[in-house]
Parts: sequence; structure tokens; C-alpha cells
Amino acid sequence: MTTTSAALATYPLHDGAGIPLVLLHGFPLDHRMWAAAAQALPAGVRAIGVDLPGQGHSELGGMPPRLEDAADAVHATLRDQGEGNAVVVGLSMGGYVALALAERHPGFVVGLGLVDTRSTADTAAARDHRRRIADTVTETQTLDAVLGMPATLLGRTSVTQRRNLFPTLESWIRGQSPAGVAWAQRAMAARPDRTEVVRRFDGPVAVVVGAEDEVAPLVEAEHMVHAAKDGALTVVPQVGHMSAVEDPATVAAALALLHRRVSERAAPPRWPW
Ligand code: MLT
Repeated sequence: MTTTSAALATYPLHDGAGIPLVLLHGFPLDHRMWAAAAQALPAGVRAIGVDLPGQGHSELGGMPPRLEDAADAVHATLRDQGEGNAVVVGLSMGGYVALALAERHPGFVVGLGLVDTRSTADTAAARDHRRRIADTVTETQTLDAVLGMPATLLGRTSVTQRRNLFPTLESWIRGQSPAGVAWAQRAMAARPDRTEVVRRFDGPVAVVVGAEDEVAPLVEAEHMVHAAKDGALTVVPQVGHMSAVEDPATVAAALALLHRRVSERAAPPRWPW
């Protein structure tokens, strides 16, 4: 097991008390993609955004391209801030890290939110594609290879009806570094199938997917919710792979329900029992 002491950048995205929702972002983005959904959470639900290694304001610090190391860094950062446990929510790449976190630090993760993501590994073709992108951004030292991504990240309804999301996503992508983008692509390519982690996880699981998500489609969400012991599926209509950005209120409602399921389990039984 590789350990790292690099502290990641974290952001209080919603005030509250008790067990926090820890929000892990997708690729090639940072914590900002969660801001609108966090603002739509009910009063009192605390949410913390994290920039994953090499993304946003978090340093890469020589970390090898392994999501396991990213998960350890998230855990170490939050533990150093005094957090004993968390409901860990990840969108796409963030979901891959959330599963690695649940595998490596099971006592820390008391609830899992898997948003527009998958527990399965990449195909050989997908791995090759990622490595080509990593090589290109490294060679050119530009983000050109990923600047066109909003068109595939957004659902077909957003492409026509939420045009304002294009410049927003593009500005978030432009905020990333070629080194961070290359690291993320190599790390995602190397991840194993973690369906077994979902199967063994004891806490509540919320699986959320955009009905128009073609990157991590409904079939992947159904695979995870069927594996979970205590899973709930939310299919968000008329949004794609960026459900938390395209329809923050619906995603926030699903996460609030997950938080309530976790809190109810943690609460002492009431009399008469
Ligand atoms: C993401 O949104 O994080 C990416 O689509 C993840 C991936 O490339 O698998």
C-alpha cells in the first residue's frame, strides 16, 4: 500500500453538522462541478468538496497514476481535518475513487453515492484511448485533446436547451493542467473492476444516473444497484453524464435521501424498542 501525506484542497460547499457528504468530482474537472448541487441540499446537511490529486488546486506531488493513492490522499486529508467518517459521493472518476476509498478505508465510508459512474473496469480499447490522450497532452503540454469534451459529457437535452453549460464546463476544463489530465487518464485506465466492493459494502448506496448518459449509461447503474445490499436507483430525466451540473436539484434530493438513510442507521433506537 502506498501512503501519501500530500494534503488535497478541500472546500466547504454547504454548512451543516454531523456526518458530511464528501463530493468527488469527475474528469477533467474539479470541485466546482458540485457547487450547484451542494447549494440545493437541505439545511443542515454538511458538504465538503475535494479537488483530486493534480486537479483544481490539489498538487500531484509526484503521485503515481493510481486511484488507490488518490483514495488514500482523500482519506488522509479528511482525517487530518478531524473527520471520522463520511458519506462519500463521486461522479464518474469521483465514483471510481469513492469505490477505492470504500475498499481501502471501509470504516471511514458510511454511505456511498455513485453518480454517472461504473464499478466495472475499462475495456482494452478504452484503456488504449486514455493512454493516447495522456501521451498527447504530455507531448503537446496543452489541453486541446480534452477541450471538446462538454459535447459528450452533456446529455442531448442540455446540448440544445442548456447551452450556457458549454462555456461553464469549458472554463472548468481550462482550469486543469496537462500533467493532471495525463495522470487522471493513466490512473483511470489502471483501475480494476470494483463491483465486489459494492457487493460487500454494508452501508446505504445511492446510484444516480442521467437518463441520457452515454458515457456511464443506465446499464452500468443497474449493475451497481443490483450488486448493492442496500441500494437505491435514481434515473434523472433529460440529463447526461453531468447530472449534478445539468439538474443539481434532483441530484441533491437523491443525496439528501442517502444522507438521511445513513443518519437513521446511525441514530440510537427510540423507546419503545
Ligand atoms: C468523468 O466524467 O469523470 C469521466 O467521463 C470518467 C471516465 O472517463 O471514465
